[in-house]
Amino acid sequence: MTESLSTVLTDLHAKARAALDPVHYDYFAGGAGDEAVLAANEAAFRRLALRPRVLRGNDDRELGVELPGGRASMPVLIAPTAFHKLAHPDGELATARAAAAAGTILVSGVASTTAIARVTAVDPDAAVWFQLYPLADEDVTAGLVRQAEDAGCAALVVTADSPVFGRHRRDRAHGFHDLPPGLAAENMRGRDIAMAPLSWSHVDRLRESTTLPVWLKGILHPADAELAVEHGMAGVIVSNHGGRQLDLVPASIDALPAIVSAVDGRVPVLLDGGVRSGGDVAKAIALGATAVGIGRPVLWGLAADGAAGVTAVLEALRDEFDHVLTLCGGRSPADLTPDMVVRTCG
Ligand code: FNR
Repeated sequence: MTESLSTVLTDLHAKARAALDPVHYDYFAGGAGDEAVLAANEAAFRRLALRPRVLRGNDDRELGVELPGGRASMPVLIAPTAFHKLAHPDGELATARAAAAAGTILVSGVASTTAIARVTAVDPDAAVWFQLYPLADEDVTAGLVRQAEDAGCAALVVTADSPVFGRHRRDRAHGFHDLPPGLAAENMRGRDIAMAPLSWSHVDRLRESTTLPVWLKGILHPADAELAVEHGMAGVIVSNHGGRQLDLVPASIDALPAIVSAVDGRVPVLLDGGVRSGGDVAKAIALGATAVGIGRPVLWGLAADGAAGVTAVLEALRDEFDHVLTLCGGRSPADLTPDMVVRTCG
């Protein structure tokens, strides 16, 4: 039996913290404002309990999920996070190796310290998605889309919650705003990456410019989820950017049910923010997410032990989710349903 995820994660987090420059640790760990949303993302999961079904003979379990843009061997994806070489010298290549070995999807960020073509080259059979922020100069956005297509990415993820970046006190206190010499956001070299508040017409033009499925990330309001479906998005990602944007929003798991209801099965809904255990994965899926993304746990694994650390996180999460699913009487993620989640006051 694999060690419990909380033990694995606590150990890797401690190891990562010891290994990282404190400025970079705070960049990864921190959130916006008072970090209320950062804390709420995890606390909101703890307030939910699972109400298992019994006697369902569920011994032949299948954890995999099919999504527009690929299959994942479990309902856990790697959320896009920037600057993996700040965590470990192998950077995004290590993350990509671990994702490919686990058979799950890596959402590679536009702000990666390794060019996307090198990330996808790690394993041509692995599904890699490309996350981008649409930019003020739409030709530059189009160039990034071509770059992702040429690299063989299987989907695009447009992050919509960042018309400006959140204000991170920890980074301000450290005066952190640049990568150290020798590291660069490789996909954006030589490009004008000025961001601008965007509208649905930007998203429409981006979607029309590609045959890849386009996901919209950073959705918290059901009306925006409805618009995302109307504008042809392949799926919606409920996310508050891991508490790094507006520090006044709901925990992502609390925002999920209204969005699932608005989308009404027309496209898949993913969730990220505060997922730290197999039980959290099960709760999100029961409430209607098709899969979840994890951000910081991957960074702790990477900083602690490179690709092996990321593998440790993914495999512990797989093992724990399978265990919870078994105890809930489920054979596949689809067997987890909203009636199996109850709110506790804890
Ligand atoms: C992020 N996230 C993020 N999202 C995005 O769309 N583009 C990006 O470049 C980044 N960069 C980034 C850097 C760091 C250090 C973190 C921690 C997060 C947000 C990320 O995709 C995801 O929404 C959250 O990380 C999920 O929350 P947890 O799992 O970290 O709690």
